[in-house]
Amino acid sequence: MNPQTLVEPDRVHRSVYTDPAIFDLEMAHIFEKVWVYCGHASQVPHPGDYFTVQIGRQPMVMVRDRNGGINVLYNRCPHRGVELCGNQKGNTGTAFVCSYHAWSFHLDGRVRAIPLMQGYEGTRLTVDNPDCSMKPAARVDSYRGFVFASLSPDGPSLAEFLGDAKVAFDDMCDRSPEGEVEVVPVCHRVIQHSNWKFFMENQLDALHPSVTHQSTGVPARRIENRVKAEQGQAPLFFHYLSAFASSFDQWDSVQTVNFPRGHGVLKAYMGLRPTDPDTLEYEALMKRAYGEQRAEEYLSRSIHHVLVYPYLSVQSPLQQLRCLRPLGPGKTLSEIWHFRLKGAPEAIYRRALWYYNLVNSPATLINADDLENWTKGQWGLESNGGDWVSFHRNFGGDTEKDGVLYSNNGTSEVVMRSQFRAWQAYLAGATPPAGAGHSGGPAQSGAAARSV
Ligand code: FES
Ligand SMILES: [Fe+2]
Repeated sequence: MNPQTLVEPDRVHRSVYTDPAIFDLEMAHIFEKVWVYCGHASQVPHPGDYFTVQIGRQPMVMVRDRNGGINVLYNRCPHRGVELCGNQKGNTGTAFVCSYHAWSFHLDGRVRAIPLMQGYEGTRLTVDNPDCSMKPAARVDSYRGFVFASLSPDGPSLAEFLGDAKVAFDDMCDRSPEGEVEVVPVCHRVIQHSNWKFFMENQLDALHPSVTHQSTGVPARRIENRVKAEQGQAPLFFHYLSAFASSFDQWDSVQTVNFPRGHGVLKAYMGLRPTDPDTLEYEALMKRAYGEQRAEEYLSRSIHHVLVYPYLSVQSPLQQLRCLRPLGPGKTLSEIWHFRLKGAPEAIYRRALWYYNLVNSPATLINADDLENWTKGQWGLESNGGDWVSFHRNFGGDTEKDGVLYSNNGTSEVVMRSQFRAWQAYLAGATPPAGAGHSGGPAQSGAAARSV
């Protein structure tokens, strides 16, 4: 089976969502090579703090070292292979100690002690042998506090890999008067019974919200209007849900920017600047920190979502981050995080929390309606009812500049075509080029971008 034959410019074969052999190729050629998000530095503030994380098929642990650095190691004892950290997170003190025979390891993975050394004399097992230490990820790096690891020693640097998509982290941090965010140390973990690509395609799919989320958006708009009529204005969080009642034309007028590595941006101003006292206090802090011009630039950026392909969706204006950990062709773990803007008033944090609970939580109807579509999509693609998945919307109407694909229609399926362009390159063993899509790029506030 040649995966290249499964992708055509306007359609893909259903097996790319269902075939275990394709899934293994994706893990080997994409997830276990590219830079994968491990977590935020504030998840492991103290020496010995650790957080376990899956990279491709590999169990890893991110740990704060005694010198303040962060290491990412395979969560595996070199003696007989037992997992060293059984918990998801915690503090391991000054060493990892294996629960089986008590080999212990420094926080950088080097073996610290092997008990009962008598008995190993004359064998190749010595504490100097690197095989006796925990294996580190090939590369670890961070950007503005967000920690990534790559299991491949080769390939682009983290900055090169992120390319223009690094605006996700800039936009999130720049909205803090201190230029930093810290994680809220609770995440929703959801198992999606669908292929990871459903999620990635859906995030910039502006065609679906007015259909899928109609049953939430329309009643929310009705109540929002009633509250406005009675009280003069409605709390901002009504807008989070009523925005899903935006018309098809409104969604079609937003713009997607699609980078060669599969990353992308949905540009739309999210209407986060009402003139209530909390917003005014926050904006005054921003102006004091950055000056009038830069504060205005930061606060008016036109971003709805940023995707870091193939696993991250960042809603930077509201400090939301969702990370995928594929578990099988039809099974995907998503981690749903949100962050606090350092130095911003508590009321501004509450907005992130409201969005987290109202839109991204598995308990909300918005997320539940998406999950239902993806599960049903997986069932359909596992059936013999047809072989192809259609990405024909606005096909032939894309414009390309410096390798970046644009469409004048927000509802164009250029998003999926772009993601599969990167997918094909990765599965051919290549690194997709970065492209240079700065003109009219995602970091700017665009008059053309509509509010949704
Ligand atoms: S398996 Fe870890 S010490 Fe034996
Ligand atoms: Fe949705």
